[in-house]
Amino acid sequence: MAPAVEVCGSRETPEFEGKITVYVIVCAIIAAFGGLMFGYDIGISGGVTSMDDFLEKFFPAVYRKKRHALQNNYCKYNNQSLQLFTSCLYLAALTASFVASKVCSKAGRKHTMQIASIFFLTGAILTSGGVNLEMLIFGRIFLGFGVGFANQAVPLFLSEMAPSSIRGALNICFQLFITIGILIANLINYFTSNIHPYGWRISLAIAGLPALMLCLGSILICETPTSLIERNKVEKGIKVLRKIRGVENVDDEFDSILHACEMARQVKDPFRKLMKPVSRPPLVIAICLQIFQQFTGINAIMFYAPVLFQTVGFGNQAALLSSVITGLVNVFSTVVSVYLVDTVGRRFLLLEGCVQMFISQFIIGIILLKELKPVGNDLSKGEASFVVIMVCVFVMGFAWSWGPLGWLIPSETFPLETRSAGFAFAVSSNMLFTFVVAQAFLSMLCRMQASIFFFFAGWIIIMAVFTWFLLPETKGVPVDSMVDKVWKQHWFWSSFMADDDLRTDVKVV
Ligand code: BGC
Repeated sequence: MAPAVEVCGSRETPEFEGKITVYVIVCAIIAAFGGLMFGYDIGISGGVTSMDDFLEKFFPAVYRKKRHALQNNYCKYNNQSLQLFTSCLYLAALTASFVASKVCSKAGRKHTMQIASIFFLTGAILTSGGVNLEMLIFGRIFLGFGVGFANQAVPLFLSEMAPSSIRGALNICFQLFITIGILIANLINYFTSNIHPYGWRISLAIAGLPALMLCLGSILICETPTSLIERNKVEKGIKVLRKIRGVENVDDEFDSILHACEMARQVKDPFRKLMKPVSRPPLVIAICLQIFQQFTGINAIMFYAPVLFQTVGFGNQAALLSSVITGLVNVFSTVVSVYLVDTVGRRFLLLEGCVQMFISQFIIGIILLKELKPVGNDLSKGEASFVVIMVCVFVMGFAWSWGPLGWLIPSETFPLETRSAGFAFAVSSNMLFTFVVAQAFLSMLCRMQASIFFFFAGWIIIMAVFTWFLLPETKGVPVDSMVDKVWKQHWFWSSFMADDDLRTDVKVV
């Protein structure tokens, strides 16, 4: 995910003194390992659950079904506990993110990341050493706690450390690390699937490496100035600010952080404030973007690509290789977004992404409907390769639009006083709907067969209509001017902007 948020960070409009220091870059890379771990966990489960050794040990019923010659093509992998293996992580992350948001403000970003890495390490040990299904599921739950903690702390950390001139690029770089994590997981699965009978253990154990890097690395990095000042460690905050900006005079930025923290502190209950009509536009948009992002069907591909490719007739190795290809497409297309987002704008990318994703889902649906009968045949080589190409076109469309922007927009549209609370809603909605798709996809594939792709295509039409009518352009608008420049100007959302308004319980000093 590419979330980026400032709880009480610097305001966007003024350019403060400072350089892009090596120290900031090193800190950002260390922190971004949190994104890499999230991506690794997304990418690893599909490959592992398509490995025969793994299935035979933990899911013998699925293994038998898979080997049964006349088994329905679309139902080979339909098994609730197999889906639970993938999806329980997201339920754990959803629960953990509410706790993590408290820990993050009370103990700081750095310690929250350290806790995340301990959860990740425990999860990697439990899953890779798994002797029964319970141990596996426990391990996945620990990984989920890690995701909940890391996804709350890392984006905050990155936004608060970055000088404002590179904040946007740094946000999307977090998503870039997620996609790199997914790709590494796909590559590792490709190699370990040849190692019998413990290849799957190696795949799951390697998740411990980025966790270890984050754990050791986070000893070296410092806490963000914003978090220090927010927790009344003002002297230390100024010292760190000087260090990360590489200049002595940081007065303007310091004043700005102090001012923002004071404003935010005066909102006694940000969650209550979020429930007021005036907070509705960014809240509705944040939640809808997460629901829509997941109902593009992206994680049906990310989690189950090898399984899906086997369904359309690839062998085990070819299926894993195809998911390496989609992983590569995902990484490179995310880079495109880093360059385009501030020039062509959010709306253009989202709408273009919808068209591309709709066409590719629709074509995949038609091919499978016509050519892949439930029983007795596979697609021809040519047809199956065409399906892979269409999946790549789909992933490309997602990776430069709804992937990064699903996170970027919620991070830039809330006013400061509700930004953190509002963002927590975005994170948890994402986890909830990721869980729903992960848990339901294989059963839906079995029941709806090829029509599942028309189901996702239908959602894409709804998303496009929503974007066209209800999503305002936020490109180039300073984060603290959204109310005046965006919401109050919008044909629909302006009716929520009564003048009693956003700052009713903020005393401006
Ligand atoms: C989504 C994940 C998805 C990933 C794919 C992220 O933005 O939140 O659910 O797996 O993109 O790259």
